[in-house]
Amino acid sequence: MPRYAHIIGWGKSVPPNILTNADLAKKVDTTDEWIRERTGIQQRHIASSKETTALLALHAARDAVEVADVNPQDIDLVIVATATPEYPFPATACLVQNALGAERAGAFDLEAGCSGFVYALATATALIRSEMYNTVLVVGAETLSRILDWSDRATCVLFGDGAGAVLLRGSDQPGGVLSTILGSDGSGGELLMVPGGGSKHPAGPDTVLSKQHFVKMNGREVYRFATRVMAQASRQAVDKAGWQLEQIDLFLPHQANVRIIDSAAKSLKIPPDKVFVNLERYGNTSAASIPIALCEALDAGKIKTGNNLVMVGFGAGLTWASCAIKWTAAQPGAPAPQRAAASRLRYIWSGIKSFGFQLSRHIDAAVSKTLDVIERKPSDE
Ligand code: COA
Repeated sequence: MPRYAHIIGWGKSVPPNILTNADLAKKVDTTDEWIRERTGIQQRHIASSKETTALLALHAARDAVEVADVNPQDIDLVIVATATPEYPFPATACLVQNALGAERAGAFDLEAGCSGFVYALATATALIRSEMYNTVLVVGAETLSRILDWSDRATCVLFGDGAGAVLLRGSDQPGGVLSTILGSDGSGGELLMVPGGGSKHPAGPDTVLSKQHFVKMNGREVYRFATRVMAQASRQAVDKAGWQLEQIDLFLPHQANVRIIDSAAKSLKIPPDKVFVNLERYGNTSAASIPIALCEALDAGKIKTGNNLVMVGFGAGLTWASCAIKWTAAQPGAPAPQRAAASRLRYIWSGIKSFGFQLSRHIDAAVSKTLDVIERKPSDE
């Protein structure tokens, strides 16, 4: 019996602080008109120093778990797609797993630039279909604002912060993620990169002074690449699912630039009312853009049970990824107050437990250090 991977929960989290084009025009040599005309972006959300990638990811993940009405203990795996992790290591996914109380789950981060969410969704789907795991949490979370050069008008106007998450579960019921396409062309890696901070140019005073920890991009080339792969990858996912393009009910593209989206939709002959766009309010939130768009499309009532969805992303790598989804979830009702209270208690309890584990680790270390000293004493004398 074939297994299918269904999305059963979803959630998003964006920091409340908004930076408009007009605000940006006060910082760099740009105008609201230029940004709107060239990209479609009007504003973006920017995280405060306390709103880190893991925190945004956790809030989106909690909402997804809530919608699915699943106990975090039932989650088998947490994947966080991000290019702006909390630390080089441990993985942001481990922080989310711990804070969520997903005690049985494995956890890892996945880095595929702005294609990261669809890459992670494809990975989760394959693991569910192979029956290795049954319940997998996939998060796309970014704080791109941390790695932007705020004096570079060609990049700083494009990006924003946020997170989106979905919970997938295996079932024999046909539907869910029906096809996935993953692609990479590493020959274009230097077109969009953060050169510093890795093994090639480890962080040091010189890398900081030469701004190597910031996003560097050849916008024109990335634009050309994006307009080529978006339509191509979408077509491949649709073919692989056994659909025709006319059967797409909603197209959910990576939200980088409205001109790129329009060009892909035109090439696929998808009418504007079937294309979801929210980049005017968020800018490009990288791996978070597609799950945030999914949540907003659901909130806007644009997705109904039985609909055919296509998601497609592109980004650093260069990478691209697409998938075709037969939507099977029903809109959840408002959670019962008792359920919300129970979840809150569960999170508090898992926080206490996690703190307890840390404390016992410290006590263990202190005790064994003391014992070492005592045992060594006679020979030292
Ligand atoms: N405000 C005003 N002028 C700006 C500007 C800004 N924020 N950014 C660049 N410019 C200037 C450039 O300096 C250039 O001036 P010049 O002709 O005097 O040299 C001019 O605008 C045109 O630049 P160009 O790069 O040709 O503009 P464009 O039409 O290609 O638009 C992008 C630039 C970045 C909006 C577009 O290339 C793009 O969206 N690329 C894809 C980027 C992307 O999606 N990246 C993320 C991938 S996940």
